[in-house]
Amino acid sequence: MGATQQGLSAQRFDVLIIGSGAAGLTAALHLAPVRRVAVISKGPVDEGSTRYAQGGISAVLDATDSFEAHVADTLDAGAGLCDVEAVRQTVAAGPEAIQWLLGLGVPFTREAHEGRSRLHLTREGGHSARRVAHAADATGQAIEEALVDTARGQPHIEVFERHLAVDLIVDTDGSTPRVIGAYVQDGETRKVVTVLAPVVILATGGASKVYLYNSNPDGATGDGIAMAWRAGCRVTNMEFMQFHPTCLFHPQAKSFLISEAVRGEGGHLLLPDGDRFMKRFDARAELAPRDIVARAIDHEMKRLGLEHVFLDISHRTPEFVREHFPMIHQRCLEYGFDMTTEPLPVVPAAHYTCGGVQVDRHGRTDLPGLYAVGEASYTGLHGANRMASNSLLECLVYARSAADHILSNPDSFTPECLPEPPNWDESRVTDSDEEVVVSHDWDELRRLMWDYVGIVRTRDRLLRAHRRIRVLMEEVHEYYSHYRITPDLIELRNLVLIADIIVRSALERSESRGLHYIRDFPERDPELDGQPTVLAPPGSRYS
Ligand code: FAD
Ligand code: SIN
Repeated sequence: MGATQQGLSAQRFDVLIIGSGAAGLTAALHLAPVRRVAVISKGPVDEGSTRYAQGGISAVLDATDSFEAHVADTLDAGAGLCDVEAVRQTVAAGPEAIQWLLGLGVPFTREAHEGRSRLHLTREGGHSARRVAHAADATGQAIEEALVDTARGQPHIEVFERHLAVDLIVDTDGSTPRVIGAYVQDGETRKVVTVLAPVVILATGGASKVYLYNSNPDGATGDGIAMAWRAGCRVTNMEFMQFHPTCLFHPQAKSFLISEAVRGEGGHLLLPDGDRFMKRFDARAELAPRDIVARAIDHEMKRLGLEHVFLDISHRTPEFVREHFPMIHQRCLEYGFDMTTEPLPVVPAAHYTCGGVQVDRHGRTDLPGLYAVGEASYTGLHGANRMASNSLLECLVYARSAADHILSNPDSFTPECLPEPPNWDESRVTDSDEEVVVSHDWDELRRLMWDYVGIVRTRDRLLRAHRRIRVLMEEVHEYYSHYRITPDLIELRNLVLIADIIVRSALERSESRGLHYIRDFPERDPELDGQPTVLAPPGSRYS
């Protein structure tokens, strides 16, 4: 990748990777020495959730910690729904993943210890030990920069920025359907080109934009999950959408995240009268797993009619706060809050998609030729609630595992032997003269998901949401069939499908567990331990 490429004409590659975050670029770097790889991203190469990650990446790195403890904490946070083998595989690969990042030059924060320098480890909710490696409070930016810089030195990696994958191409002529590429819209020319590859990796991130208030960048619209579903793959555990407890409450802040590490380093959650309420909800107080903290805040806000609660770390010295949280401190100052001297107003907001495309240990989906890695996938690691900082780890571990599997299992499909699919057909569509419909449907969908499918659910509200989502789906389908596609329309089409899958998954689960809390069934049902919610698209071999 001497430089990122300008335009993508119809081409064939060994591997097409859709997404350039931690998952996509890690896969590309492991494949590139021997495969010709195309990486596409719908925005700039470094834009995605990875870049905004704050707290860090978890791994067992201290002699007082252990794999068993990391596994146990992850299982506990996952509330009886994690796949134990997936947890063990990920945890065991943690230290090597951190070494790999150090090798790429990621500037993790260090501290002096007994005359030597070692990684500083912070703490976050659910972790029983300090095990989160971080680059101050901008870990994602440091990781993404290192990945992009390393990829730039690889001649076998071609990156196409501002190219939006619209749909996967499935060849149904053989005995088993197989993914052979994708239709991709060039953001500049708006032309849709056919990109062919015997292996396609979805690394498109999560879907938190389906909620009005969320911590994610704009592109988190679940495109990969929606594309995989339309192609015929199963999607698992989508009712478990994670709400981060502490986003800054400010009209201009767009739910700017205040890292869990602030609580890890001693921050207290307070009511306006100074009551440290978390102690009443869980013995771990502010460091309970995220679902418990977000639900407690939601409960207190509703009980007292509050717009927000407070997060206070002003009892630590100003030097400590500035040293550990330089980026957050600076951003808060821009919004008029000095966290060294005053508590910050915070609210929960949608943050992470625990469910996703069902994959195996190597990131393989139900369809030959298609892998999914990172937040778009469901590996079984997170179960009913992801533990903080396990996501970046999952991106690295599964991207590597997928790459290793691709390299060690060369199949008979080469780019040259793939059939020529039909070109994208625009002969029956026109330019829309009513784009306002798209923005109106976006707003309506995201508000109704926030109001009816949020932190606390009821069956009635889920059913109401479902009825309205079905109408929106029809409207969007109608629009999609008649008008030339735009990025907003493509994302809306994906989001409305994701919303439908979330609500249907939530309706399937007759219990409260982890992130899914439903008043009609307030207790956890032990019979459902180890039972993920697996939905299959109509017409697929699993439906
Ligand atoms: P992303 O980094 O989101 O990348 C997605 C990529 O897919 C982008 O390149 C995008 O352009 C591309 N894409 C999407 N759709 C298409 C399409 N249709 N066509 C072409 N390209 C497409 N996790 C942790 O472990 N530790 C943390 O400290 C942490 N902090 C976080 C803080 C914030 C504010 C947020 C939002 C998340 C945080 N997370 C954290 C979660 C973590 O950052 C993400 O889960 C992880 O980075 C996801 O990486 P990814 O590679 O799967 O996707
Ligand atoms: C944070 O820094 O609080 C985010 C950590 C995560 O989502 O894993």
